[in-house]
Amino acid sequence: MKVTSRKSELLRMRHALPGKVGLVPTMGALHAGHVSLVDTVRRRADCVIATIFVNPTQFAPHEDFEKYPRGMEADLAAFEQAGVDLVYTPAASEIYPDGPKVTVRAGPAARGLESLSRPHFFDGVCTVVSALFDHTEPDVAVFGEKDFQQLKVIEEIAATRDTPIEIVPGETVRDAHGLALSSRNSYLSPRELETARSLNRLLLRTAGELRADPGNAAQSVATGMQALRNAGFDDVDYLEVRWSRLLAAVTLGPTRLIDNVPL
Ligand code: PAF
Repeated sequence: MKVTSRKSELLRMRHALPGKVGLVPTMGALHAGHVSLVDTVRRRADCVIATIFVNPTQFAPHEDFEKYPRGMEADLAAFEQAGVDLVYTPAASEIYPDGPKVTVRAGPAARGLESLSRPHFFDGVCTVVSALFDHTEPDVAVFGEKDFQQLKVIEEIAATRDTPIEIVPGETVRDAHGLALSSRNSYLSPRELETARSLNRLLLRTAGELRADPGNAAQSVATGMQALRNAGFDDVDYLEVRWSRLLAAVTLGPTRLIDNVPL
């Protein structure tokens, strides 16, 4: 596995890769969900490039950019074991030569949901993902379904590019209790972890009610919100149906969790 943090070197290494190239963009702090993304893209490409970059423009000043978990050595070992061919770990100056500022605006899929409490987020994601697409020139790229709105936002920006990039959804990987794996789960105390594990179960219950009685959707969603509060979540940012999925964001102390299930 080759590793580089320099764009000029990356381009040389990328052009030496044979066949179709798949991309797995990450912010590091890897878990089994990231390995599954590598496996997903590997099925559609001959070679895999992974990137590790904690992107400052998708964090608001009060958010967790500084404390976001970082562990380059373990991440590289995990990518090596997963069979990644090339890892790009750019310095911020490679992505943002003129300083960290947003240059790509997200499209209509960014409206509502995450944007209600994180209005900066998708423009930051679109800016970094566009730079990573430019630098790595992939044929196909994978984004996890756990961040379902992000997946939809990225499908929109990929569709506007001159060179097509196929965007592939990566299935959500969960622990034995149904909690979607996330690098931010490491922030949870044992007690918060117990509560977090009820999120998926309650989403599935509400999704079942929505399927059984579509005419009563508003009531099912209201009941679902109350159930999340009763389970111990401090706040429910949203519980909403879009793209034939039920999507939720909740907070637990200082930690914000998102999840979604198909309807
Ligand atoms: O989903 C993530 O980990 C990040 O938002 C991404 C797509 C790597 C952009 O920084």
